[in-house]
Amino acid sequence: MDLNSRVELNNGVSMPLLGLGVFRAHGGEEARSAVRTALENGYRMIDTARIYCNERSVGRGVRDSMVAREDIFIITKLWKDDFDNPRRGLEQSLERLGMDYVDQFLLHWPFKGFEKAWLELEKLCSEGLCRSIGVSNFKIHHLEELKEAGASVVPQVNQVECHPYNHETELINWCRRRNIVVQAYAPLGGVGNTVLSDPRITTLADYYKVTPAQLVLRWNMQRGVAVIPKSVRAERILENSRVFGFELSQDDMDVMSDINSNLRRAYDPDKIDQRPAGTFPKIIEED
Ligand SMILES: NC(=O)c1ccc[n+]([C@@H]2O[C@H](COP(=O)([O-])OP(=O)(O)OC[C@H]3O[C@@H](n4cnc5c(N)ncnc54)[C@H](OP(=O)(O)O)[C@@H]3O)[C@@H](O)[C@H]2O)c1
Repeated sequence: MDLNSRVELNNGVSMPLLGLGVFRAHGGEEARSAVRTALENGYRMIDTARIYCNERSVGRGVRDSMVAREDIFIITKLWKDDFDNPRRGLEQSLERLGMDYVDQFLLHWPFKGFEKAWLELEKLCSEGLCRSIGVSNFKIHHLEELKEAGASVVPQVNQVECHPYNHETELINWCRRRNIVVQAYAPLGGVGNTVLSDPRITTLADYYKVTPAQLVLRWNMQRGVAVIPKSVRAERILENSRVFGFELSQDDMDVMSDINSNLRRAYDPDKIDQRPAGTFPKIIEED
């Protein structure tokens, strides 16, 4: 494995195993320079979303980097405001990104109406506006409901919270059997996390002479899970990409398995429609 390593999705499109996440990277110089730094240092995948309010900056960072568009894998996501009109949502994301396609378009959460929205994503993909489609924060029953609603495409990806405190092993195995690649969000444990200071992690990291962040990213990738760590700091963007020079032994993979406590920090996807509207991030348009 190296930074160019890719996994083949169930529609034949290949997707990098490691990318840069930009949730909470402020629209403007912060997100733009993080994207540029990542691409200049070998990253080839960027994960954004409408609700991150930084798609314009992501597009600018991509162009600043001078890396050819076709070599970069751009992911964005449909927010709930556009579940009634995914085409509008995607077209507006493309306008903000300054691109004529994205490499992956995801339903951000199983908001009400996700089944109907999915059928629209299938059309958008067949028209070439996105090269692959998937879901995020979907549990097994949500994926089954897609099928029951008449989906003819199996999602290429399910992006879920996944780190040493929340392994999602059952979901990952279920998805693997159906050729759905799992992408780990919050792979470092998320903002303000304690994963990286957990003595069980720091001890193993010392043993492998890597940082805790490198250890936990490598662990997920060795499980076949793609990762999208976020940082806006150049030194960490580089650190998080240097995960290819070591390999966890099977014994240490087993040690990692013992750390799981099914501790999800994000909302329960089953309750997302009950989440008070005022607690979602506010949409702020970029300049
Ligand atoms: N689909 C969804 O619903 C969903 C939800 C959440 C996230 N995501 C995606 O997943 C990406 C990653 O998740 P996340 O941003 O929530 O959490 P994360 O990547 O697990 O952690 C990010 C936090 O860790 C810090 N950090 C980064 N590298 C570090 C390092 N080497 N050592 C110590 N700290 C480090 C970052 O700070 P600095 O920036 O200051 O370095 C930031 O505070 C997001 O950016 C987004 O693209 C998707």
